[in-house]
Amino acid sequence: MDQNLQNKLKKEAGIKAAQLVKDGMVAGLGTGTTVRYLVDELGRRVKEEGLTFTGVTTSRRTAKQAEGYGIKIVDIDDVDHIDLTIDGADQVDKNFNGIKGGGAALLWEKIVAINSRHYVWIVDQSKLADTIGSFPLPVEVIPFGAGHVISRFKAKGYNPVLRLGEDGKPIRTDENDYIVDLHLNRIDHPKELGADLINTVGVVEHGLFLNMVDEVIVGNEGAPKILKNPYKGGAIRE
Ligand code: 5RP
Repeated sequence: MDQNLQNKLKKEAGIKAAQLVKDGMVAGLGTGTTVRYLVDELGRRVKEEGLTFTGVTTSRRTAKQAEGYGIKIVDIDDVDHIDLTIDGADQVDKNFNGIKGGGAALLWEKIVAINSRHYVWIVDQSKLADTIGSFPLPVEVIPFGAGHVISRFKAKGYNPVLRLGEDGKPIRTDENDYIVDLHLNRIDHPKELGADLINTVGVVEHGLFLNMVDEVIVGNEGAPKILKNPYKGGAIRE
């Protein structure tokens, strides 16, 4: 998809989602370029409409942007609940399973998500897929012994690549961990894969977000489309 069109669709999804934030809420704010548009719009609403809410962010980057707009950001442990979290995603399938972590924030993103009463993704239409996996699956790994974790992944045919920054060094997450991207092409059994990854010593968390999201706002040519998750059993949230 053309980059300008993709940005336009991301922006429209972000603006639409900003309407979900109401006065007095505790709102989880995700990470990424789509969320930047969301936060810009929330900043506008704070300034022009007098919207007041408290934010919990999934990265230091988002906290910095939101605070720049005068949005009150608190630590996740300073709130007893999160009303609503809005985040981006890298790929979403028809069963509302997704891949996240393209922006290296998947660990905080998953922690914020599972503690949210309502969980929403904002994506452009290019992120929708029949089967996830063509986007490399990010896995957060502790630096100590990471080489051995990567060797185990290689032996399993997961095609791991340690994510490097522009300086050629491994990028670090907000928890100072590494990200290893698994080039799998397609993931036919996400649940089994997720279980295998989380049971690998040294892995902190993986970017498979399976049936967690309540609704997905898709930036489409035309107006953004809202997809509600019919499978959402509410098992992990009240
Ligand atoms: C960050 C994420 C992002 O939400 C995901 O990568 C989507 O990013 P963008 O909105 O820039 O396409 O999971 O860890």
